[in-house]
Amino acid sequence: MNAKLKLTPSLIESCRRQFPALSREVNDQPAVYFDGAAGTQVPHGVIDAMCEYLSRSNANHGGLFITSQESDDLLWESHAAVAHLLGADDPATVSFGPNMTTLTFALSRALSRTWQPGDEIVVTQLDHDANITPWVLAARDVGATVRMVPIRPDDCTLNMEELRSVVSSRTRLVAVGCASNSVGTINPVRDICRLARSVGAISFLDAVHFAPHALIDVKAFECDFLVCSAYKFFGPHIGIQWGRRKLLEELAAYKLRPAPNMLPGKWMTGTQSHEGIVGVRAAIDYLADLGRELKNDTTLDRRNALIFAYQAIREYETDLTVQLLEGLRELPQLRIWGIADPQRVHERMPTVAVTHRHRTPHELAEALGQRGIFAWHGNYYALSLSEALGREPHGMLRIGLVHYNTSDEIDRLLHALREIDES
Ligand SMILES: Cc1ncc(COP(=O)(O)O)c(C=O)c1O
Repeated sequence: MNAKLKLTPSLIESCRRQFPALSREVNDQPAVYFDGAAGTQVPHGVIDAMCEYLSRSNANHGGLFITSQESDDLLWESHAAVAHLLGADDPATVSFGPNMTTLTFALSRALSRTWQPGDEIVVTQLDHDANITPWVLAARDVGATVRMVPIRPDDCTLNMEELRSVVSSRTRLVAVGCASNSVGTINPVRDICRLARSVGAISFLDAVHFAPHALIDVKAFECDFLVCSAYKFFGPHIGIQWGRRKLLEELAAYKLRPAPNMLPGKWMTGTQSHEGIVGVRAAIDYLADLGRELKNDTTLDRRNALIFAYQAIREYETDLTVQLLEGLRELPQLRIWGIADPQRVHERMPTVAVTHRHRTPHELAEALGQRGIFAWHGNYYALSLSEALGREPHGMLRIGLVHYNTSDEIDRLLHALREIDES
């Protein structure tokens, strides 16, 4: 990669300055946000866009007056921005909703109307429960069978042989995550989507954990549906769904009678958070502007700018992950769950789960929190994985990095963990 496309310390500093939350202090120390996997902070651009919407253009859909027309234009621009983010051609195939979970429940009801007893759906142990339970409940309602693909416990990767063996001509849906929000494993989603297609099944990808770290490309992934959540990629609390136009048009959505039958309105029930949807575009433009700055080209189109931004983010985060894994491996009381070998860092996201020989994840998170370091404890709703690893009821401590984190912050974490060990 061109050396210019690196996230240098000064570029990271300029990114960090855009996030007001990052200047917060806890006990006279700068706060360290390692809770990105639970939700990222937002840059000024997002906050300003939301305030501007509420101050000037706040209105409902379809009115024959200026604020409503402005509002509709702004919302449509967000559909277009998300299409660029996902590598989709058609903004109407993007819909918004309260969060990924709610969108997935709604889609699961619509899809399951096409299932019958004897049909099978495939979910995985590696997934967040939002990509398991909606499908399990929908299958139960229509008498379809659920096939759960196990993980390989030694490195928390999906057992692909098992996956291949459960997918058959009976399979109607394969629901899988792009990356684990718990242990960071990246899944071979294109292979999985191809496998689903080869038996006539629909593929559904949960890209919630993937979106802040790597470029989504619905064409390259060859998926039928993909969901993500803007609050995990520097935006507000909004869920996003993309689907193939043909499927979105053919399927019967659970919707109200006066609501549109056309895309995207067909899949967007009730009144949306307009200010949030406007904020999504600003979050995507924060990333695109980073790509433009990296390329030193303000005219770069949004998709290409995003490609460069994500290349640099991925490389930067990979370096941070190596530093973190190497540091954690030197702490004998800690165990890393998932891919721990820094040589295999390209197979994982910068999201690392650990346990301590003598302290619970709750105790660790509390002790870190007192030191101004925000890390998550528990199962983060990746319950099946936590159960498969025998980690319930305590779960693990999750350190979730994003590109606004720094090497110094990792040093602070490692120092704090050593201190906690000795206390
Ligand atoms: C991988 C993954 N999928 C799904 C979800 C659920 O997303 P939402 O909170 O938008 O419903 C989360 C939330 O943590 C997640 O990390």
